[in-house]
Amino acid sequence: MADEWRPELYDSKLGFVSGHGEHVIGLLQPQAGEAVLDLGCGTGELTARIRESGAHAVGIGKSEAMVARARSKYPELRFIVADAESPLPEAMVEAFDAVFSNAALHWMKAADQVLAEVWRCLRPEGRFVGEFGGRGNIRTVEAAIEEVLLAEYEIEASAFHPWYFYSLGEYAARLEAAGFHADAAVHFQRPTALPDGDAGMDYWLESFAKPFAHAVGEKESGRLFRLVKERCRPSLYRDGRWTLDYVRLRFAAHKPQRG
Ligand code: BEZ
Repeated sequence: MADEWRPELYDSKLGFVSGHGEHVIGLLQPQAGEAVLDLGCGTGELTARIRESGAHAVGIGKSEAMVARARSKYPELRFIVADAESPLPEAMVEAFDAVFSNAALHWMKAADQVLAEVWRCLRPEGRFVGEFGGRGNIRTVEAAIEEVLLAEYEIEASAFHPWYFYSLGEYAARLEAAGFHADAAVHFQRPTALPDGDAGMDYWLESFAKPFAHAVGEKESGRLFRLVKERCRPSLYRDGRWTLDYVRLRFAAHKPQRG
């Protein structure tokens, strides 16, 4: 996605994304003195949490706006604008004991390239621990977007999909093909409540579904999102709150010792 992230909106209305990442830090178990790369660091919330363990955490993200906000919130930490779907800076090669990622990998559709970059950044025995959207994630929302685009605009959504949601088997196979040992993986449903009552879904669509707005043009995007919201309402809105049908893929892998 082009740099359309709105860091203030992200921090004020979508803080639940980082909140859920606490469990993934639990799986990572960062140790004092370790070098940890936070891949897809958003506005730096979890990079800062990892730092609290005494690890040297560095955040990377593709969005200049998000990284700028991370730097202003946490000036003592290092944040780099970088895209893991392309070669990362040479200085990162074998520089990390662990790579961590929360709610970011589904935005990086070139998964094999990303895995190759994670591999390059890790020292032998280094861990790769993360969580992202798994197969079936936000199926109701995706279906609503696809149906509205087709019925109202005669547009096939597939060309605009910014995400890819792997099954456990597919992702474990990719990890292994990249050379990792897959140590653990779990695919599970995690219905996710949005804050802010009825408006919660507006913030979500505005922040995360922008690529579909491009399909219809800026002037129509408000109507598109309103129609999508109403199509989702019978399944996802209850007692004044939106609860989205999130599915997670959580995994731990490591780069084996050479030889
Ligand atoms: C997710 O975290 O699963 C997600 C967030 C925004 C768009 C799509 C998926």
